[in-house]
Amino acid sequence: MTLSLESAPAPILAIETSCDETAVAIVAGRRVLSNVVASQIAAHQDYGGVVPEVASRQHLLLINACLAQALEEAQTDWADIGAVAATVAPGLVGALMVGVTAAKTLALCRRKPFLGVHHLEGHIYASYLSEPTLEPPFLCLLVSGGHTSLIRVEACGVYRQLGATRDDAAGEAFDKGARLLGLSYPGGPAIDRAAQGGNPRAFAFPEGRISLPGGGYHPYDSSFSGLKTALLRRVKALQEAGDPLPVADLAASFQDAIARALTQKTLRCAQDHGLKTLAVGGGVAANSALRARLRDACQEAGIQVYFPSLKFCTDNAAMIACAAAAHFERGERSSLELGVQSRLSLEATPSLYG
Ligand code: KG4
Ligand code: ZN
Repeated sequence: MTLSLESAPAPILAIETSCDETAVAIVAGRRVLSNVVASQIAAHQDYGGVVPEVASRQHLLLINACLAQALEEAQTDWADIGAVAATVAPGLVGALMVGVTAAKTLALCRRKPFLGVHHLEGHIYASYLSEPTLEPPFLCLLVSGGHTSLIRVEACGVYRQLGATRDDAAGEAFDKGARLLGLSYPGGPAIDRAAQGGNPRAFAFPEGRISLPGGGYHPYDSSFSGLKTALLRRVKALQEAGDPLPVADLAASFQDAIARALTQKTLRCAQDHGLKTLAVGGGVAANSALRARLRDACQEAGIQVYFPSLKFCTDNAAMIACAAAAHFERGERSSLELGVQSRLSLEATPSLYG
């Protein structure tokens, strides 16, 4: 069956391969027609983290099956597809290349426009999938394996970074913390699960703060390396004393320190900038303690907070398709000459089009 699409936005097929998920989705406007994610967790688990060469190989092995499944689930054929999109930056270069090469090849063969998408813009657009009425301006707290950013969203493609991490990203802190506690990769979900039975006040962990040259602290920037060191020291001290590790209490206290720091900086930023709406995105947006703390604090401050549903927090292609759909509707297209980039600031998003 082919969908009737009169007056509906043309579906966009998007591919996401920036890290360790091979993902393909088809989205019409803000409506998800299919969302296929092939996780590579098993392939990387023995190494305790993502191995770039293994990721590229896995993407190659999985991409065709993901494409076929996304088209099948959306019950859409190529005649209906308006454009083909792929994450072009930032990410692992070899991994990005697989998705971008597949997308460009399909765009050429099927005679469709191609759109390159900034991965972080995708995480911002994940909020539109769960809350289609969301409109800028709003503040986005973007917390993933590679980023911890506070972003003022002005319009499609118009972003201003107000805060960032000075060292580890929040997801990286979870992953490293989990390793210290002997928990499995990826660390965020493992700490979240272990913390369920623990006491978040059992151990006092520091809130990372960035000193300013003139005195005081940076109001929005984060730092998580001190927290990781504090956990390492505490684990060593407990091990040297011959005590069994109170993993649940350590996980709950560590998780709460991250949630507390992020909540405090986010609220301050929203209030200072007069923003009454907050959208949270990225894998760490799935964290139960962060969701609970932000919900309570926003309610108290009269700020409307939106979290994507869990499947749109971690990497997926539906969020990439949703961002591409917004650019496509504005008449923007990318050149087939557009290359992948391991780093690219979110503010540079407009450079991907025209
Ligand atoms: O957004 P994402 O899937 O990939 C990147 O763009 O980095 O985020 C992955 C990160 C990992 O560090 C993972 O440990 C973390 O998100 N994560 C979580 C949870 N689920 C995933 N961190 C804390 N709590 C969770 N429930
Ligand atoms: Zn991501």
